[in-house]
Amino acid sequence: QSRQPLVAGNWKMNGNLTLAESLADGIEQAELQVTEVVVCPPFPYLAALSKRTLTLGAQDVSACESGAYTGDVSAAMLNEMGCRYVIVGHSERRDGHQESNALVGEKAAQALSQGLTPIVCVGESEQTRQAGLVESHIAEQLKAIVDSIGGEAIAKIVIAYEPIWAIGTGQTATPEQAQAVHRFIRGYLAEVDPAAAAKIRILYGGSVKGSNAAELFAQPDVDGGLIGGASLKVDEFLTICQAAN
Ligand code: G3H
Repeated sequence: QSRQPLVAGNWKMNGNLTLAESLADGIEQAELQVTEVVVCPPFPYLAALSKRTLTLGAQDVSACESGAYTGDVSAAMLNEMGCRYVIVGHSERRDGHQESNALVGEKAAQALSQGLTPIVCVGESEQTRQAGLVESHIAEQLKAIVDSIGGEAIAKIVIAYEPIWAIGTGQTATPEQAQAVHRFIRGYLAEVDPAAAAKIRILYGGSVKGSNAAELFAQPDVDGGLIGGASLKVDEFLTICQAAN
């Protein structure tokens, strides 16, 4: 398998500048040969971390290039702050800020236009899973992304599969549940562009911990993780990064 494992820490709206600096120190001291590690701090801390060696991502980006959009942050600004990645379409944005599939697709395209790699999140609610609609739900989310970025750009993005029922709940998807959806995602993308689908990294997110990361990352279509709570504790985060190494 030639895909480089990727572990991204999504700090969400947690911590303060002191924690941001100390997490960054710990991560920079870690010795990882294989795994690519990305941290996604809150916007105000990007500038403080922008001169460091660690790889930075943001948690959201505007779909628009610039202009009168109070409170929004453009892809060009993130680029200027040294970001290489940006999370797009996290369920906390989709649900809490009414982000539609179409908007998420536009954000992914906007990120790509500025040379950022979007980590585009997809995932189903518990209700959707119980109704047996996981694949059709994910397919709709993927269709909007592909329609917006174009099939030729698939290899330039990262997908994060995050079942909503697993986020912050401690109820991690089993490795088999994760693998089944990851395989579906890769298969869906392979119908658009088989070579790109073989290359794209698909991360799992949802209650990944030091104790369960290795079995999740051992699945053939799981290429790393998008880590929330456990990315705020440097030792545990590094254990997760090692598990992908
Ligand atoms: O972006 C990260 C995910 O929402 C996972 O969060 O690891 O706290 O469950 P969690």
